[in-house]
Amino acid sequence: MRLILGLVLSCLALGAARAADSATPAPYSPDLADIMAGSQLRQLKLSFAGAQKNWPLAEFEIGQMRKNFADAAQYYPEFDKVPVAKLIKEISEPALDEIAASVKAKDEAGFKKSFARLTEACNSCHQAAGKGFIKIRVPTLSPFSNQVFAPER
Ligand code: HEC
Repeated sequence: MRLILGLVLSCLALGAARAADSATPAPYSPDLADIMAGSQLRQLKLSFAGAQKNWPLAEFEIGQMRKNFADAAQYYPEFDKVPVAKLIKEISEPALDEIAASVKAKDEAGFKKSFARLTEACNSCHQAAGKGFIKIRVPTLSPFSNQVFAPER
């Protein structure tokens, strides 16, 4: 009897250990604030790329930011009752289209103007979301001393 009980218990223990081993974590779903931290990084790099007329880098950063916003809209179509997907479609995407056009045209003045508009779009959504204390501005200094923003010559 004891032997059987022992066997049963060790089988159970083995099963539990196996289950723990093979337990896969739930698929990773990013926090909205983490997606936003990504767009903050892109906003900064985009600013320096544009200021130094590195148009290929600017185009790349716009693409990355579009992906950030697409993720935000997909994972958080509504966040704290804020229609994130709708606001992205109505304010961020037009601002991104405008800046993309200025990059394509290598239009420095147009870039500056549309970059300001893009930055305003960040803040208008933060205000709508009751997070007006997250205030984005045109960056003045790059913390990325490990990346060259000037274009190849
Ligand atoms: C459609 C709405 C919307 C737009 C557009 C938007 N944000 Fe956000 N952002 C949010 C919300 C909502 C939060 C707060 C998330 C939370 O409470 O977890 C946030 C948070 C943030 C944060 C805080 C992240 C942290 O952990 O410190 C930063 C930085 C940020 N946004 C940057 C940006 C930048 C830069 C842009 C524009 C290029 C932008 N956001 C555009 C909705 C938006």
